[in-house]
Amino acid sequence: MRKNWNRHIANIWLQILNKIKPDKKGLFLEIAPGEVNKIGLALSKYNFEGKLFIIEPNKNALKRIRKDYMKNLSCTVRPINKMLDSIINGLPENISCVLSNHPMDDFIVGKYLKSKDFDNFFDDHYDGDPEKTRSIWKKIGNKPKSLKKKRDLVFKEWCELIDKRKSEIVIISQYKSYFFKSNKIPFADKQAFLVVKMLRKRYKRFEISLDNIEGIHDKSRWLLLDFRRRTNFIVVTESKDLKREGK
Ligand SMILES: C[S@@+](CC[C@H](N)C(=O)[O-])C[C@H]1O[C@@H](n2cnc3c(N)ncnc32)[C@H](O)[C@@H]1O
Repeated sequence: MRKNWNRHIANIWLQILNKIKPDKKGLFLEIAPGEVNKIGLALSKYNFEGKLFIIEPNKNALKRIRKDYMKNLSCTVRPINKMLDSIINGLPENISCVLSNHPMDDFIVGKYLKSKDFDNFFDDHYDGDPEKTRSIWKKIGNKPKSLKKKRDLVFKEWCELIDKRKSEIVIISQYKSYFFKSNKIPFADKQAFLVVKMLRKRYKRFEISLDNIEGIHDKSRWLLLDFRRRTNFIVVTESKDLKREGK
């Protein structure tokens, strides 16, 4: 089931890459893969041969995904064992593509965990036991004000990455999780999706449609941003404004 699901999601990623065509020899940034190779499978089929930075704060997950990617990808792999917010300023500016599969629920949870608890939580993430996840989301839900603050922090962190590092393309998925659905934790899904909605609102003018991409149940759960025409956009707006002034 998990293998088939991974392949299904990887196939969606591949279709998106083929549609938008980020530079195959450029610098890609995968954020929070955990130990899951969904994006890696897509990159391999896309024949990506550039440089891939993997940002993953959980040591064990990073070790596993690095091994997998080194074996199965033809690109250079650079693992970075850090939280996203602590590394943004140190990243290069010429990023061709930022990719992240289903990160936002874990980003929110991560904001509640100190380093040792963080590792314990994400080390146990793949054993299928929903209790830890259910219990932490129950606690999170009990304090809506604090949750809003944490959600805003996650949103700001992603905006900082997008605005400061000027990546050409950003692709984020936050589809409805089977795990949350089958274990009746819909609240987590909702909170994670709220961050995607905030990003969509802020970067609306750069959003690309997912037309012709097959296998997506709910397209609003995928965010595909293309900033390659960032400068053109400003020029177009200016000329419109000038026209308006002339009238
Ligand atoms: C468990 S994975 C799940 C998503 C995975 N990409 C997939 O496709 O199934 C999520 C990862 O997010 C990482 N994470 C949580 N907060 C983070 C942050 N602030 N910066 C970078 N990674 C973070 C965790 O270490 C965890 O391994």
